[in-house]
Amino acid sequence: MTRIIQITEHGGPEVLQPATIHLPAPGPGEIRIGQTAVGVNYHDVYVRSGLYRTLALPGVPGIEAVGVVEACGPGVTGFVPGDRIAYVNAQYGCYVQARNLPAALAVKLPDAISDAGAAASFMKALTVCMLIRRVRHLEAGETVLVHAAAGGVGQLLTSWASHLGAHVIGTAGSEEKSVIARAHGASDVILYKQEDVAVRVMEITGGEGVAAAYDAVGADTFQGSLASLAFEGHLVFYGQASGPVDAFASAMLAGKSLSITRPIIFHYTRTRAMLEEMAAACFEAFEKGIIKPIIPLELPLEEAARAHEVLEARQSPGGIVLIP
Ligand SMILES: NC(=O)c1ccc[n+]([C@@H]2O[C@H](COP(=O)([O-])OP(=O)(O)OC[C@H]3O[C@@H](n4cnc5c(N)ncnc54)[C@H](OP(=O)(O)O)[C@@H]3O)[C@@H](O)[C@H]2O)c1
Repeated sequence: MTRIIQITEHGGPEVLQPATIHLPAPGPGEIRIGQTAVGVNYHDVYVRSGLYRTLALPGVPGIEAVGVVEACGPGVTGFVPGDRIAYVNAQYGCYVQARNLPAALAVKLPDAISDAGAAASFMKALTVCMLIRRVRHLEAGETVLVHAAAGGVGQLLTSWASHLGAHVIGTAGSEEKSVIARAHGASDVILYKQEDVAVRVMEITGGEGVAAAYDAVGADTFQGSLASLAFEGHLVFYGQASGPVDAFASAMLAGKSLSITRPIIFHYTRTRAMLEEMAAACFEAFEKGIIKPIIPLELPLEEAARAHEVLEARQSPGGIVLIP
């Protein structure tokens, strides 16, 4: 038997309900994992609310966790019981005490990263790696805009980008968060609840604008992000914490020959080789101190609903993990 958190309908945090189910032996190519920490990501909020209809109901949400291999199914190579592993899984099912998982999704965890730190940071680090190495190559000396720079992805993106020599203009929802953004390398921080982002960006950049805007806030920031770009600027629109963005006319890009992408991390880790290359880059960045594992708020698995409340209230210290 294993404890799980499931949703039977879309709605607020209260639809996240505990249950217990039978766990069969791992099948061919699968490993059974005793989970030690489950990452809570904004994606989970979209799945719970119904903004994303990508989880069949009733279903178990969650796209990232860390644990220990307890058993290997037939044909599994490369893992043995006792290995510490992390994984992200577009097929969900992570809000559980134990589970079976295709071994091809798991990567071994370096000793230096704690279980909770990895569960709070692995998927976010993969996302940042995608943003700065795959979606567009971040160049030393360029100026970029990072929205929600004190958030989970935002902290790691700000750290990695400034390490590469970029001048990072962050945005943050409060003075306290602006301190966090600066501590991770932002040279300027715009308090976007009070200040007009594009106006401030143009002031900071002497009217030129930024080479790239990294925007996962969505509805509230999208137009300001476009207006903040320099000629040939690139809007990397990778999430929608404040809600989905309305349809927009492509003519809006023509004024400055702008481009826009809408990347999803699962597409950039879709083969074993892609996953291993990205994971290795992230673990190297952690090892060298370029990015630091997030120290998350830890809550019991059964308090998944509270975790979502904290995340949606913008009170997360960069990461939340559930401990089974
Ligand atoms: N495309 C991908 O593959 C991918 C992968 C991972 C994450 N993401 C996206 O990256 C974003 C950050 O994810 P995360 O898990 O690291 O979360 P997070 O940044 O820790 O939390 C979201 C942050 O967004 C800001 N925000 C602005 N308006 C908001 C609103 N109306 N409601 C809630 N938050 C608001 C808040 O920061 P302030 O208080 O400072 O405004 C909040 O802390 C999410 O949009 C997520 O979907 C995308």
